[in-house]
Amino acid sequence: MDSMGKMRRTHYCAESVGAAVGEEIVAAGFIAKARDLGNLIFADLRDRTGILQLAFDDGTDREIFEKAKSLRSEYVVMAKGVIRERKSKNPALPTGNIELYVNDLRVLSAAETTPFEIRDEVPVREDLALTYRYLELRKPSLTNNLITRHRIVKCARDYFDSQNFLEIETPMLCRSTPEGARDYLVPSRVQPGKFFCLPQSPQQYKQLLMIAGMDRYMQIVKCFRDEDLRADRQPEFTQIDLEMSFADEDDIISVNEGFLKKLFKDILDIDIEIPLRRMPYKEAMERFGSDKPDLRFGLELRDISELVKDCGFSVFKNAVAEGGSVRAINAKGLASHLSRKEIDRLAQFIKPFKAKGLAFTRITPEGESSSYEKFLTSEEVSAVRCALGAETGDAILIVADSKNQVVFDSLGALRCEIAKKCGLIDPKRFELLWVVDFPLFEYSEEDGRYYAKHHPFTMPKDGDIDKLETRQDECYAKAYDIVINGTEAGGGSIRISNPETQKKMFRALGFTDERARSQFGYLIDAYRYGAPPHGGLAYGLDRLVMLLMGKESIREVIAFPKVQNSSELMTGSPSEVDQLQLDELSIKVDIKD
Ligand code: AMO
Ligand code: AMP
Repeated sequence: MDSMGKMRRTHYCAESVGAAVGEEIVAAGFIAKARDLGNLIFADLRDRTGILQLAFDDGTDREIFEKAKSLRSEYVVMAKGVIRERKSKNPALPTGNIELYVNDLRVLSAAETTPFEIRDEVPVREDLALTYRYLELRKPSLTNNLITRHRIVKCARDYFDSQNFLEIETPMLCRSTPEGARDYLVPSRVQPGKFFCLPQSPQQYKQLLMIAGMDRYMQIVKCFRDEDLRADRQPEFTQIDLEMSFADEDDIISVNEGFLKKLFKDILDIDIEIPLRRMPYKEAMERFGSDKPDLRFGLELRDISELVKDCGFSVFKNAVAEGGSVRAINAKGLASHLSRKEIDRLAQFIKPFKAKGLAFTRITPEGESSSYEKFLTSEEVSAVRCALGAETGDAILIVADSKNQVVFDSLGALRCEIAKKCGLIDPKRFELLWVVDFPLFEYSEEDGRYYAKHHPFTMPKDGDIDKLETRQDECYAKAYDIVINGTEAGGGSIRISNPETQKKMFRALGFTDERARSQFGYLIDAYRYGAPPHGGLAYGLDRLVMLLMGKESIREVIAFPKVQNSSELMTGSPSEVDQLQLDELSIKVDIKD
């Protein structure tokens, strides 16, 4: 007889290992699997902490036993019973030595057959999984990602609190911040024709909080950027955002190294060595072809321009003559992995980075082949091989271009692709570094003007303030990125806190004084009333969780992520809205096809 008395959970499934054999406990959750062996029934009970086996047998009350017979996957139940030792142990489960011998069972909700099996081992088509994301999140691996995300957020709050940071909220409805992506706009009903935008980051507000005397600010904050999605990019994502007054680059880096040390210790029990290495931007580009170098493997770039600038291969010769370069990677010992076919694939792989080709030499014990050595003298061939330390078993891969950026981008991506394909990456290893000494500006060929590489409030290096308006390409920034395993986990800078320098900066970016005033007048004004020197940084929280959990995509660590075309498949957003809503907002939709 099912007593109608209240049954209250005493233990999460994983906590049951702490209960004594013979102890009566109550657990609750979903049925992960039920096995009916006739006079014996076993059912795996799953909650967010893990699995506990429920057992029923001849000795079980008949009514309870009948109820146990009805259990199907994903039924929601509460079970009371006595902890006992299992007959056949399961060493794969933390609770594998015990089971709950059930003496009372409540079926709280039946479940239809789910659209896919809720088991980590069973792959599911992504669109199906995301449409039923609430079911996919029941998978232990995804549950675990969200639990770790929570712990990381808590670690950040605890650490920055201990360092005197105040958590302060900033508006979600605001004016456009010039972070470089497109804004999400929100129409104002009461002021027809006017729009708020959702923040790309709280950048200006946090600077104004420093001017307001808050001294140290932090916020776990949603940011919105209307840009193309990638594995590490979502249109809405979360930052651990911070700003500090009376701080220079070293102060900010050191506070953050304290955070990273605690984070890796608390979450992964890994002791990272601080201070972390710092690498100038220029070195990162020249050695790794990237401003977010993955240091878990070699495959470094070498500049061979000098060796081939007069050679008979016009592709190399012209690239150097036109102001570009010829750079090479020696894939040490990988000639057998890099077949002709694979090299052809890699040549296609680097096309999106605008590389016009991939020249190669393979040196295998069976023989040698090369796409360019036939155009070189034997002295040039050996000079290149010697510079790269190439020997039997190696494969040389070369990109030449009149634009250095193309060479860096393609070889930078190529070295990561080769490392991935050839298994050179130890997934347990973490390589953290600061990339520092960024250029202040970036030139856009398309627009024929300079843009701020970080944002227009970034302080130039001390010697470069006088060059702001004349030698933009020689200006460097007090900016730094924290790079973990080849991903930019965070970035920040010291800000300009002097109105004159800020004005110069706006002029360098081609803003007239009027435009600067109309767009940023409030900020320029604020500096006039006493501005402490300040700077800060923001981590991409989703990326941090992804990196710490060793996941491939930030989608795996976001409860309800968006897909490629920015839709959220479960609720079907974005969607059309009622004409009435549009009318109220004075909005006319005009779709061009
Ligand atoms: P930044 O634009 O470099 O700097 O952003 C900081 C960090 O946020 C993460 N990030 C993203 N994560 C997921 N999806 C995206 N679309 C996305 N865009 C950025 C990255 C990045 O390093 N206000 C400045 C910070 C500062 O100067 O203090 C800012 O937003 O991990
Ligand atoms: P081709 O003479 O066009 O057949 O090119 C000979 C080799 O040079 C091929 O392996 C091409 O992939 C390679 N190649 C062509 N353009 C470039 C380039 N810009 N950089 C490196 N290799 C190139």
